[in-house]
Amino acid sequence: MRFDVLTLFPGMFRGYLGESLLQKAIEAKLVDVRLHDYRQWTDDKHHRVDDRPFGGGPGMVIKVQPVVDCFEQVEREADEPGELILLTPQGRTLDQPLVERLARQPRLTLLCGRYEGFDERVTEILRPTEISIGDYILNGGEVAAMVLIDAVIRLIPGVLGDEQSSRDDSFSTESRWLEFPQYTRPREYRGHEVPDVLLSGDHPAIARWREEQSRQRTQQRRADLLSRPAENQQDGPSTDGLHHPQKNNPS
Ligand code: ADE
Repeated sequence: MRFDVLTLFPGMFRGYLGESLLQKAIEAKLVDVRLHDYRQWTDDKHHRVDDRPFGGGPGMVIKVQPVVDCFEQVEREADEPGELILLTPQGRTLDQPLVERLARQPRLTLLCGRYEGFDERVTEILRPTEISIGDYILNGGEVAAMVLIDAVIRLIPGVLGDEQSSRDDSFSTESRWLEFPQYTRPREYRGHEVPDVLLSGDHPAIARWREEQSRQRTQQRRADLLSRPAENQQDGPSTDGLHHPQKNNPS
């Protein structure tokens, strides 16, 4: 899957791209992330990419020309069209069904804004899908783009190791409910012991315990997940990222 990231701060991505899961996915050619700097497309003689807002007010607005030209050049050079996404607090909130839809695209182009935002004509002309990662204001779209990339790439086959993928298969409640608690050695730490059932070797009992823990946690911490209507099920049961066991589906 290919991501083109359009930003004023490509350097912000380099640490993230060079680490861990994403680095391995890039090396394995499962993921290709290309960074593009709006500054290289400005036709302003002072190389300015932002300017004061018409009508006055604080802050600076990113100019329409460098963004549109940058995007059009990236599209011209790409092998296939991609979905264009603008990271903005005004967009639809990112959730797992949306992540799953995006993970099915061959290419995503991410527009990251800064300051007071883009000139409105960027959205008028390019008509991006506007996505927010939550109801708070970041200093720009870069961190939001990294969140989106992170959530999407783990759904690309082969990006997670076999261990994790098979784990997903055997514990399908993990996506319907919050994760059950996990423990590793030592068995006891400062008087806190690992639950006996996990040391029992009785795998059906362990599975039952985990399912029950997941259910209880979800009930206590995120009851909204249990009462949420089973939306996005038209493509089959797993497309919304949630598992809907009959006995727990209140609808
Ligand atoms: N840019 C600034 N805040 C943002 C948010 N919450 N989500 C996406 N992009 C943003």
